[in-house]
Amino acid sequence: MSGALKIELGRRYRFSASHRLHTSRLSEEENCRVFGKCSNPHGHGHNYVVEISVSGEVDPATGMIANLADLDAFVERQVLEDFDHKSLNEDVHAFRDKVPTTENLCMEIFQRLKSFPRAKLERIRVEETGNNSFEYAGDNLEGNRP
Ligand code: NI
Repeated sequence: MSGALKIELGRRYRFSASHRLHTSRLSEEENCRVFGKCSNPHGHGHNYVVEISVSGEVDPATGMIANLADLDAFVERQVLEDFDHKSLNEDVHAFRDKVPTTENLCMEIFQRLKSFPRAKLERIRVEETGNNSFEYAGDNLEGNRP
């Protein structure tokens, strides 16, 4: 990218999903100790909030970094369609053998969005509840520029 004006764009999305924190790498006893009631067999739900930050140069013709409609359609296709009103453990392939903690969710969402063609994905922030949130900025060595 040249030294031209770079601006960051933030956008929020929401989805609801269930999960169970449990791993076959630990015994039942250890799962209970580590994850507590989050390890209950039938899972529980969250209303997740995902904040996405992308950056780019402002297009002199449109005055925008990226068209929000393009970003919305991309996030819908790459993330929301697969995650909303789903069981993260059962329905999302990545969590078949990875615990669907919000840390892992952040990384999975980042992987799914880093190929957005119109701007550079800077960071993902996922809020699991009003009290906890996680941020992931990817591997800076990765060339994920458009
Ligand atoms: Ni939970």
